[in-house]
Amino acid sequence: MVQDSGAEATLVDKAKQFFKPLPQDMATAEFATLAPRVELGKKLFFDPRLSADGTVSCATCHRPALCGTDALPKSIGVEHRMSARNAPTVLNAALQFKAHWIGERANVEEQAMKSLLGQASFGNPDNAAVIRKIKALPGYADEFAQAFPNEKEPVQPENWGRAIGAYERTLVTSSPFDAYLKGDAKALTSQAQAGLKLFIDVGCVSCHNGVAVGGAAFRKFGVVGDYWKETASQPIDEGRYKETQDPADKYVFKVPSLRNVSMTPPYFHDGSVATLPQAVRIMAKVQLGETLTEGEVNDLVAFLQSLTGPLPKKFATEPVLAPQAFGATQP
Ligand code: HEC
Ligand code: HEC
Repeated sequence: MVQDSGAEATLVDKAKQFFKPLPQDMATAEFATLAPRVELGKKLFFDPRLSADGTVSCATCHRPALCGTDALPKSIGVEHRMSARNAPTVLNAALQFKAHWIGERANVEEQAMKSLLGQASFGNPDNAAVIRKIKALPGYADEFAQAFPNEKEPVQPENWGRAIGAYERTLVTSSPFDAYLKGDAKALTSQAQAGLKLFIDVGCVSCHNGVAVGGAAFRKFGVVGDYWKETASQPIDEGRYKETQDPADKYVFKVPSLRNVSMTPPYFHDGSVATLPQAVRIMAKVQLGETLTEGEVNDLVAFLQSLTGPLPKKFATEPVLAPQAFGATQP
């Protein structure tokens, strides 16, 4: 008995060396979560009218019902164009040091702004077209002015990104693992605790660590062997090399955050693996050269399930958007 509680204390103390509980929100000195900005950002997140064909919003690919993903291997955007990669969740995404699988976006604000012109996301021809569209929709000009006071021309693609970013910075999902880190030893089942111990001892934690359980470094996918032999990926994605042209970046990807990972199949940058146990087996094999027993896989999955938290209220319900008021202003 005494020994048992001793072992528990050791595990939680060890865990605290590698992980941190979630903050209340993800505001920074540069990116505040001011209420009018968050409210505007939420509307923009769910509004398809800013896309080239009027069918696609952020929520098309980051759906509340699917924990901020679309459950597809690769997303489908305007005019049914397919994205190059799998859609990660927007929940807790702002914790990460960069956005996107290869980290070519600095933060969630830049990510949102650039998706306006992304060929496979919103597909707009240029920023001028976007600004015209926003101004033509009822309500938005005033809301931009409130969200960005003291700016002469608040309706700007950059502010669209900052408003949506402010909203995203409120989307935190505190989980049983956070309660555990804060001292509630019973928040994790004994199987999840065994998984946590293994996650540390086998070396997953060397890459997936910190407050996001990942999201803080770039690493090669396939340290020990070619990843595509395990994932059957087609085509083979060269990762950050595409962005930097540096041979050292071949097959390098951002270590993804594992928060809510049990809710966000399919897995990996191309959605090539359907289930979490299989993703865990592949990780052990190609990142660490380890072959796990079924029991070990199950324990690790139990730990990863403890990283799931309830949907934030601000994400679970869609906003009401002002309809286009044809004729409404006529006498
Ligand atoms: C057509 C589907 C689609 C639409 C629309 C879309 N996204 Fe994404 N999103 C993706 C895909 C796919 C990725 C991964 C891209 C990559 O890494 O190459 C992604 C990546 C992201 C990321 C980075 C997450 C991470 O862990 O790195 C964030 C944040 C995000 N999207 C937010 C948004 C916001 C906000 C909008 C609306 C302005 C939006 N997305 C619109 C599919 C979409
Ligand atoms: C050497 C660094 C490294 C180690 C060690 C490592 N990972 Fe990963 N992990 C990554 C990278 C990089 C990716 C992204 C791979 C990709 O899809 O391009 C990833 C992806 C994942 C994913 C898929 C996430 C998603 O949203 O699709 C899971 C699950 C995962 N890792 C779990 C683990 C587990 C469990 C271990 C230990 C057995 C582990 N990882 C060890 C670097 C690592």
